[in-house]
Amino acid sequence: MTGGGAFERRAGLLHCGPCPLDAIAEEHGTPLYVYSGAHVLARLRALREAFRPLDPLVAYSAKANSSMAVLGLLARSGAGADVVSGGELFRCLRAGVPPERIVFAGVGKTAREMEEGLDADIMSFHVESAAEMALLASVARRVGKPARVAVRVNPGVRSPTHEYTRTGHATAKFGVAPPEAAEMYRSACADGFLEPVGVCVHIGSQVREVRPFVDALKTALAVAERCRRDAGVQLRYVDIGGGFAVADADGAELDLAQLGGEVSSLMAGRSLSLVVEPGRSLVAAAGVLLTRALYVKRSGDKTFVVVDAGMTDFLRPSYYGAAHPIEFVDPAGQGAPARVDVVGPVCESGDFLAKDRLLRLPRPGALLCVGAAGAYGFAMASNYNSRPRPAEVMVHQGVARLVRTREGYEDLLRGETTWPPAKQ
Ligand code: LLP
Repeated sequence: MTGGGAFERRAGLLHCGPCPLDAIAEEHGTPLYVYSGAHVLARLRALREAFRPLDPLVAYSAKANSSMAVLGLLARSGAGADVVSGGELFRCLRAGVPPERIVFAGVGKTAREMEEGLDADIMSFHVESAAEMALLASVARRVGKPARVAVRVNPGVRSPTHEYTRTGHATAKFGVAPPEAAEMYRSACADGFLEPVGVCVHIGSQVREVRPFVDALKTALAVAERCRRDAGVQLRYVDIGGGFAVADADGAELDLAQLGGEVSSLMAGRSLSLVVEPGRSLVAAAGVLLTRALYVKRSGDKTFVVVDAGMTDFLRPSYYGAAHPIEFVDPAGQGAPARVDVVGPVCESGDFLAKDRLLRLPRPGALLCVGAAGAYGFAMASNYNSRPRPAEVMVHQGVARLVRTREGYEDLLRGETTWPPAKQ
């Protein structure tokens, strides 16, 4: 099973650590996300090892999996966070991420979110346009606290990944071109309420090759150098973003050791520290989605396996065409192999977990396990079709613990009124 040891078979039955997945599903119902805490920590250690000589700040990209259990575990292990909204900032602070290890990214920060970041005294704001920087300066002035800033440079690198998750090319909405970045540092230096502290890039997600990261870093380093020359300001850090690919149906994982080596040699002799923003690479293989087979159905020459999880629970197959492994938790007693689409209950033809997959036909109620679902799984779940979002369990130190209860129907109505409003 994809997961590099997080999920393994014992006597034919899939387990997370010592805990059998069928027992966890029995207790907490399906659809259900299950995470391995040990695996998240192992990935964090491996990442640190790859960049060891640089001792980077690992600012975990909270958007990949913002479960409080995951955030808390990483915070206790010394990780910081990359947040992109006031909501993520709130979560990370509550989970115990120290504010001095939080960077605030995103192209559309509001004045209110900026104020929240300033109130918390976060490490820095990663600004993505001159207009955003001007607003940040005015909010900082009003609050009476200077804002530490890093400009997100668009390095003009076309990373080989899905077009929706590619962010470093010149026509992307992210970052600014190097000449504009230089201009922004000049004006930041002239503003008493902006303190330039870093430079950042992020070229996309699930990037398998080292080359685009190296090219982007070279551009960022050139911008930092120009900032020193033109504005006389020595920046403190360079942030190379996240996007480190994990192994999937399309290929192997990014060679982190090679990336670490190349980054180290490029940074040698510069007075800059390193920040990395991994999301997927820390949590993807640490999570699975458990779902039960409801029906087998034939339409024309197609066979559908209808399960109780759909695009509202796990959007990646529908939205990116992502191919995630699907296996039986207990393969014993299942039917003959067939070419099937695994589909959910949502009223959309685009609602599927897998297409044209060779799978044994499940007996009713059979438990299936969707792999590599720890990143951008629950985080992208929705209530479409008025479907309550799944529960989440974390297995850590030998114990399976419910870390988020399943939503109920009352949760679906929270904050709503009928018209006319019901009498109190
Ligand atoms: N830093 C920044 C500025 C980002 O925008 C992102 C991801 C990351 C770090 C973390 O990237 P990662 O290491 O997780 O690849 N929903 C998509 C992925 C969108 C990624 C958005 N930004 C998916 O399911 O593939």
